[in-house]
Order: sequence, then C-alpha cells, then structure tokens
Amino acid sequence: MSALKIDALVKLFPGRDAVRAVDGVSLDVTEGELLVLLGPSGCGKTTLLRCIAGLEDAQEGRIMLDSKPVFDAATRLNVPTHKRDIGMVFQNYSLWPHMSVRRNVEYPLRARRFESGRRAARVDEVLGIVQCTHLADRLPSMLSGGQQQRIALARAMASKPAVMLLDEPLSNLDALLREELRSQLRLIHRDLGFTGIYVTHDQTEAFTLGTRVAVMNSGVIEQLGTASEVNARPQTEYVARFLGIRNALDISFDGAWTSAAGPLGGDLSLLGQGGDGLRIFVRPEDVLIAAAGKMVMSGAHLNLAGGVVEDSVQVGHEMTYMVRMGGTLMHVHRARAEGEFRPGEAVDLMLPHADVLLYKGGKLAR
Ligand SMILES: Nc1ncnc2c1ncn2[C@@H]1O[C@H](COP(=O)(O)OP(=O)(O)OP(=O)(O)O)[C@@H](O)[C@H]1O
Ligand SMILES: [Mg+2]
Repeated sequence: MSALKIDALVKLFPGRDAVRAVDGVSLDVTEGELLVLLGPSGCGKTTLLRCIAGLEDAQEGRIMLDSKPVFDAATRLNVPTHKRDIGMVFQNYSLWPHMSVRRNVEYPLRARRFESGRRAARVDEVLGIVQCTHLADRLPSMLSGGQQQRIALARAMASKPAVMLLDEPLSNLDALLREELRSQLRLIHRDLGFTGIYVTHDQTEAFTLGTRVAVMNSGVIEQLGTASEVNARPQTEYVARFLGIRNALDISFDGAWTSAAGPLGGDLSLLGQGGDGLRIFVRPEDVLIAAAGKMVMSGAHLNLAGGVVEDSVQVGHEMTYMVRMGGTLMHVHRARAEGEFRPGEAVDLMLPHADVLLYKGGKLAR
C-alpha cells in the first residue's frame, strides 16, 4: 500500500532569480519503505521534504498521505503541518532546549492526546530502540551531537507517524559516529519497518539505507530504483557522474573508432554504428591494466593502447593509477596482488564490455 503519493509537484521560489526548486516530482512511497533522495547541494531535496511536511506551499500538484489528500493545488487543499501524520528529523538537532529528553520525546504524544500511561510506556520503548534509556532525565545541552540525533529520531518515531522525514540527520556528526548511527538506523528500519524519506548527498548512506534511491537533479528525479539498479545502470550521464564513475570518454566513428584517450581497439561490436554525442563511462575498478603489448585477450573488451603511468598510489591492498592516455587521464584501481606499475611505465588498458556504460546524448544507450 502506498503510504505517501506525490503527483506532479511544483514548488517555485519567485523573485528576480526565480527557482523551480521542485519541478514536477511524482513519487510513490510504499508502506515500510525507506526511500532515499540523493542529490547535490541545491537540487531541491529539503524543499521537497518541506512541501510534504506542509512547511512550504507548492504551486502545482498533489500530496496524499495514507491515501488521504493533504495538499492539492487544484482545490487549494492544504492541511497544516501539525495535522499531517509525520515525524521529522533535521540536520541541526532541533530538540527543545528547556525540556528533558523524556519531555522532548513525549511531546508529540501529548500533542496527539495519548493518555499518560501509554505515553510513558511509549517513551521508554523508543528510548530503548535508540539505546538512550539512561539519558531520559538530561537536558539536550548535556548530550553529545550523536546522542541528540538519537533523541530527535526517538521523538520523530514516538507517535508511529505514517511517514518519517529525515533530512541529512547524520551530516553534522564525525565520520565514525556517522557510520555507527547509519548501521543502527539500518537495523531499526529493518526491525520496525517504518516508512520514510531520507535525504542525503552521501552515496554510501543512500545505498546502505535506501530500499530505493531517487537521484535528484535541479528539482527533477533523474532516476529511481533499487541501490543495485541505480549502481549497475545509471540511466543518465548526470547520475553516472554523481556516482563518481570517473572515466568518461567522448568517442566518435570516422572510418575507425577513436576516443579522447586515442584509438579504440579490441572487440568494437558494442559501439554499434556510430553517431553523434556518444560517450563511454567506466569505473576505475573495472579497468584492466597490463604492461604495453602484454595484454592477454579473453572475452569481449575494448582496448586502449599506448598509455604511460603518471602516478601510482598504494592504499591498503589496492593500487590506484593515473594513466596518461592520448589527451586524457584514465583512473585505474586494481588489487595490489595483481602486480604493480611504476610511474613512467608504458601500459595498455582494457575495458570489459560488461562494465562499459555507453551513453548517447546523455542517456544510457545499452
Ligand atoms: N526560501 C527560499 N527562497 C528562495 N529560494 C530558495 C529558498 N529555499 C531554497 N531555495 C532554493 O531552492 C533550491 C533548492 O534548495 P534546497 O534547500 O531544497 O536544496 P537541497 O537539495 O536541500 O540542498 P542542500 O544539500 O544544500 O541542503 C536552491 O536553488 C535554493 O537556493
Ligand atoms: Mg537541504
């Protein structure tokens, strides 16, 4: 069942530099799903969440919460925030400073008129879930950032809202704590199955937490799919670049195939008949490297010959190479056990067909 349904939502910030912060977004979040909105700064993630929460009025479209409309531009329906069944957690720990942890978590239960016995039991329950039972009587100022975010999460969950909205809840925390809370959140979601939208610009967070991931660009959802779908087949060059697929080569056909990194050899069948606006993307970890002329051909590959290692860095068991190829630099990651190449060495590169993403006019072509 759909817990949250958004139809063709448009939010425009008028003015001299008018921005279409949300530009025709449609989304369907099913019950129990944690949908991640992933995108760079300014792409409209927070604005979309604020529209769902009723903190921002959209100009077009419709929002249904638990099958009931809460916003409809056509009929001017706009249910106020406190009457929408949602829980919110934001980047800056927004606890009430003068209330104890217990009072903070209890607040939404009072607002929804839970009777006092049930309130106390529920507060204990959610503080247990976020492992903060021992902090119940402290004031927010006596908590670390990580503890404050746990309490904010407990408060948002307390009344079992239809949908939880989480806007970069971990981004103010240091790396270690961030990782710890991320795993905890994953387990909480797995065990409780709450429905939510989680906003981040961090891929690892998106792919660890998201049941599905929506990649946003300038107010538009570019791609929506499971983590493995989005990773395996980024539908647009924008998504490929955002995922950090660093090797991008313009290619063209003029009797023979050539690229920014020089002539392409090997099995060229995957490139088709040529055409304009063609570009291939390949991840550094998918590129094979061998000493010049020593490449062993097996299976279907594209070849790039005549490279020179410009830099080589060892990180743990992995080698990272920057290889000067024609007019461009190719990034290559390999296991150190496969051998090492030093700066100045002549090398060839091989791109396995299965790992090559081919785009035409910015869109995935195969
Ligand atoms: N109150 C406002 N008035 C005018 N423009 C706004 C307002 N709020 C946001 N914007 C603009 O709308 C666009 C989307 O902003 P939004 O805050 O939704 O981005 P975001 O994806 O959450 O970015 P970040 O990752 O930096 O938080 C931006 O261009 C921003 O400048
Ligand atoms: Mg934001």
